[in-house]
Amino acid sequence: MKTEVLKTGEGNDELILKKASDIIKDGGLVAFPTETVYGLGANAYDAEACLNIFRAKGRPADNPLIVHIASFEDAEKIAYTNELYYKLAKKFMPGPLTVILPKKEVIPYSVTAGLDSVAVRCPVNPVAHKLIEYSGVPIAAPSANRSGRPSPTTAKYVFDDMDGIIPLIIDGGECDIGVESTVVKITDDSVTMLRPGAVTCEMLLSVCKNVTVADAVINELKDGEKPLSPGMKYKHYAPKANLFLVNDKKIDFISLALEKQRSENCAIMCFDEEIPRLENKNLLPVGKKDDIREQTRRLFILLRRADELKVDTVYAHLPSVEDKSLAMYNRMIRACAHHVLGGV
Ligand code: TXA
Ligand code: MG
Repeated sequence: MKTEVLKTGEGNDELILKKASDIIKDGGLVAFPTETVYGLGANAYDAEACLNIFRAKGRPADNPLIVHIASFEDAEKIAYTNELYYKLAKKFMPGPLTVILPKKEVIPYSVTAGLDSVAVRCPVNPVAHKLIEYSGVPIAAPSANRSGRPSPTTAKYVFDDMDGIIPLIIDGGECDIGVESTVVKITDDSVTMLRPGAVTCEMLLSVCKNVTVADAVINELKDGEKPLSPGMKYKHYAPKANLFLVNDKKIDFISLALEKQRSENCAIMCFDEEIPRLENKNLLPVGKKDDIREQTRRLFILLRRADELKVDTVYAHLPSVEDKSLAMYNRMIRACAHHVLGGV
């Protein structure tokens, strides 16, 4: 199959969106930009089309998909909502929040991987929004990477993974946020964070007093432990090289990095301020030391760049586990399979 890449913002958006929505309506797959990462979408009512998402990604059949809607009220069409859903939706939708709700019958089990719940998200990116609207159906979409790889935040990285596998990639430029949405499970009066993202605990606490973070967000699952979200149990986001995180409270990062630069074919993910102190070879600057937002935004791009450099190892700072860097901590600790030099 030939994979077409069409760029938005050059006067052809209506044509591109018409073409893309026709593919979705016909049961095909389209990769599209969102504010978080690129998604690989299909008609969420079409069980067969959604099975093709799993095939295209090589995704384990027990890992459910997120269903994207054009406005938060559309959740009624696919799920049983409650008051807390509307409180969260009014504050954070459209935007990078996904809420797990009991599913209605219209959503096939191929979307939810056999679960009776469905993940609902209303993206704010205008291309994503219009694609859902023009398609006239909710769009089931995981991140548009091959399973296990870092989520793509540019159309080029979607192409690297999906060339020849899907008919169309909509190129909407680099994603603003750069990590996937915050995923929460809710009851009538409590929120459990299953995956951290740009909507933080502090932000959720402004809506609900009872917010907890699932243990698997921070710690490794114990042998035989059943995760709250199937996605928690898979190795994720991994570059081809071996990634090591360095606890810079216990180990001097610069000394270690200089030693590795001399002895290994490695890349170093360093703060911008550290560049002059390191050898100018395979450096992957993550942003300024205090700029968590920029570091988070660049994370997946840099993991992909490490692959392009064809290095054997990558060394990076262990992020802090505090609320505002929790999304980055969670992705990095999983990308390195919990290999932290100096310990956590
Ligand atoms: O930002 C995002 O959320 C992106 C863009 C494309 O919207 N999508 C995304 O989808 O990251 P995906 O499939 O890569 O991640 C979905 C996560 C998985 O960890 C999955 O296990 C979890 O959400 N999930 C989906 N449905 C669930 C359900 N019913 N119960 C528990 N977890 C669920
Ligand atoms: Mg994913």
